[in-house]
Amino acid sequence: MLWAASKPRTSMGHDPGMPMIFAATFFSRLRLLAATALAWAALTPAAMAAAPFEDTIAQRSMACTACHGAQGRAGPDGYYPRLAGKPAAYLYKQLLNFRDGRRHYGLMTQLVEPLSDAYLMEIAQYFSGLQLPYPAPLPPTVPAGVLRQGRQLVLQGDAARRVPACVSCHGQGMTGVLPDTPGLLGLPRDYLNAQLGAWKTGQRRGQAPDCMKEVVDRLSLDDINAAASWLAAQPLPANTRPAASRPAPAAGAVAIPCAGAAPSALKAKP
Ligand code: HEC
Ligand code: HEC
Repeated sequence: MLWAASKPRTSMGHDPGMPMIFAATFFSRLRLLAATALAWAALTPAAMAAAPFEDTIAQRSMACTACHGAQGRAGPDGYYPRLAGKPAAYLYKQLLNFRDGRRHYGLMTQLVEPLSDAYLMEIAQYFSGLQLPYPAPLPPTVPAGVLRQGRQLVLQGDAARRVPACVSCHGQGMTGVLPDTPGLLGLPRDYLNAQLGAWKTGQRRGQAPDCMKEVVDRLSLDDINAAASWLAAQPLPANTRPAASRPAPAAGAVAIPCAGAAPSALKAKP
């Protein structure tokens, strides 16, 4: 199912020819149906009332882990992202983004639409608090020159094209920065490519000012692939938690403003 991650969502199930792809589509649909059924069952008040188990956030979050993997450690294939350990305000913002139409995945939107902001924050905090080991990075499959280009972009940016270094916002250790910038390590290349590609085409948006849109607009598809390939091949540092603050900006560094994390900004509609 790796192919699915780099395709626009709308093309799911419409691939011409190639029996293998048909089979993959069929199974991914089955899995989605099963997951959605589970998700609905677990989140509806009736099921919650009738449930024999203790009504804890861990139990209720099984609606989510059906897709996102046990304890939100990610699905097996680069399509269902990891939730565990990501900054709470980042996860919360993404739940609002799905609910308010800045990110698009029908099944996620349906799930989060009926939930209050306070409940979404509780879910975000739950997953953010789970500290689980990350999978080992996969050996890169692209030429060394591509990896060098990716490393350069992530660590230094490209002043000539006014691209800031990714680490200037995502943290020197690339494990994210509190309160709401996610880490870039431990994510599959397909997921990184799909998300950056989605910003380029407008399929994924953040709250305004949407700094990632600015960044991605200054990158070519080759740059995106280079950065994603290099990032996905990096091991995580011993301390995988997000940093408390961004690194001090280098002299003459390009600055791009991002949406703030103030509660009022978090609630703003697109
Ligand atoms: C049917 C499968 C499915 C279910 C059930 C599901 N998700 Fe998702 N979720 C996805 C997919 C696929 C994406 C990535 C979509 C994209 O590419 O933008 C996603 C993305 C996310 C993101 C953004 C992650 C990031 O790093 O940007 C968050 C947060 C999230 N889901 C939380 C939840 C929560 C909380 C629940 C339970 C209430 C849930 N999901 C249930 C499939 C699912
Ligand atoms: C100006 C600050 C800034 C810079 C520079 C920046 N980012 Fe980001 N990035 C963010 C913020 C903030 C978010 C969260 C966006 C949101 O909440 O919608 C983000 C989100 C992302 C995500 C989504 C992660 C996920 O789990 O879904 C990826 C991937 C990403 N950035 C990659 C990059 C790469 C690669 C670069 C360098 C080429 C880069 N970023 C440079 C601020 C920045």
